[in-house]
Amino acid sequence: MDEPIVIVGAGIAGLTTALAAAPAPVLLLNRGSGQHRPASAMAQGGIAAAVGSGDAPRAHAHDTRVAGAFHNDAAVVNWLCAQAPATIGWLERQGVAFDRDADGNLQLGREGGHGVARIVHAGGDATGARLMQALRWRAQASAHVRCCDGVDVDALLLRGDGVRGVRVRDASGTACEIAARAVVLATGGIGALFARTSNPPGTDGAGLALGMAAGARTRDLEFVQFHPTALDVPDAHCLPLVTEALRGAGARLLDAQGRYLMDGIDARGDLAPRDIVSRAVWRVQREGRQVLLDAREVSGEWSQRFPTVLAACLAQGIDPRQQPIPVTPAAHFHMGGLAVDLHGNTSVPGLYAVGEVACNGVHGANRLASNSLLEGVACGRRLGAALAMREVPAAQGTARWVERGSSLPDAACGRLRQLLWNAAGPVRTGAHLHEALQECRDGLDEGWQSTLAMALLAAARDRVGSLGAHWREDDIPQTVALRIAGGA
Ligand code: SIN
Repeated sequence: MDEPIVIVGAGIAGLTTALAAAPAPVLLLNRGSGQHRPASAMAQGGIAAAVGSGDAPRAHAHDTRVAGAFHNDAAVVNWLCAQAPATIGWLERQGVAFDRDADGNLQLGREGGHGVARIVHAGGDATGARLMQALRWRAQASAHVRCCDGVDVDALLLRGDGVRGVRVRDASGTACEIAARAVVLATGGIGALFARTSNPPGTDGAGLALGMAAGARTRDLEFVQFHPTALDVPDAHCLPLVTEALRGAGARLLDAQGRYLMDGIDARGDLAPRDIVSRAVWRVQREGRQVLLDAREVSGEWSQRFPTVLAACLAQGIDPRQQPIPVTPAAHFHMGGLAVDLHGNTSVPGLYAVGEVACNGVHGANRLASNSLLEGVACGRRLGAALAMREVPAAQGTARWVERGSSLPDAACGRLRQLLWNAAGPVRTGAHLHEALQECRDGLDEGWQSTLAMALLAAARDRVGSLGAHWREDDIPQTVALRIAGGA
């Protein structure tokens, strides 16, 4: 059968799946270039891997589960952390040159939540871009992969109860139907549905919405990670990230009075897990005060270690070597998504998901820093190899199209982003979530973005206790509840 495996999304997870599926034919569909640049290309963190002396996958797995508030699927965590050293080796064979010291050893950085330095970078904070460059080049040079840019997949073809094709639209709106032996969603996260995000505009949940329209089960939708330090560009939606590796190299968060923000909040200080740091920043901002990251003492050559942050700050007229950087929390990563097993199977036969759009339980309630590129590559390799081996019976049954549905107009999208930011940002309450849900239902036009937002808001409303990145300010800790009830 020469129907291709259709992969929707050409970030790290999609590219890796495509490469690993050789020799099966693959059609790799990319929503576009320009503003639809994948989030992977902007990833500044590196890849976490227990490759240092004295480190072990077990320690990496422990840190992953602590960050995830033990909501993680332990078996998947153990598998991923055990895969990490081999994943670095595979990437090197694809042409990625990781940063090494003068003796040729991998340079290891440290980020929040990690007990030791275990983050591998390529080109300093340009790791995502370097990985994308190498994998994209490989894909273009591979005879089994055909790349098609600038197309949006807006419908899935079901035959019987399985997915057997996609409908794509180009920028002019012209539609084309493509039969597939399997469809993989690798469309990334949902950061751009929030008013402030470190993601590019194309990470708007379009793939998640499409999978949901086809009836695929979702999991953990309420868990959204907010990065504490995006560059605070006034009134901007998609903000440049100011990597956590800077805090790993000694940068400190300050309030406008010059007080260290994390003092007295968490013993791990500036390197506490992201949810804790984000809430600290959010609370200061809610009082109308600015938060700054002082990176002036960071040693080493900025142009080699932090070229991306340096360029983004200079573009805003801020020299981070001379002055503190204004920062803000921003929606960064979705731990939830289409529920998949470790093989990438969604609940709909023939439909697979990998990378941020998927939820295999590895990140739990809060992702550990630098575990996402790792997940994209390790799970992409596993899924691609499995699809290449899979026997697919001839398509049978009546054909039926499921559509993602119409898109919200731009102005309504802007309102929705603000609504999600206020109600489902780093600090949430039941009352705000409830109000936001009603406003989505009654005050917004119908569109796939509002359907997706309502699913997220409902999941956040229904999880009444705080867990990981999902922080309910109205959550009464159990000990206090017992005291109120006279029990302790
Ligand atoms: C960062 O560099 O701070 C982000 C890394 C990540 O998201 O894991």
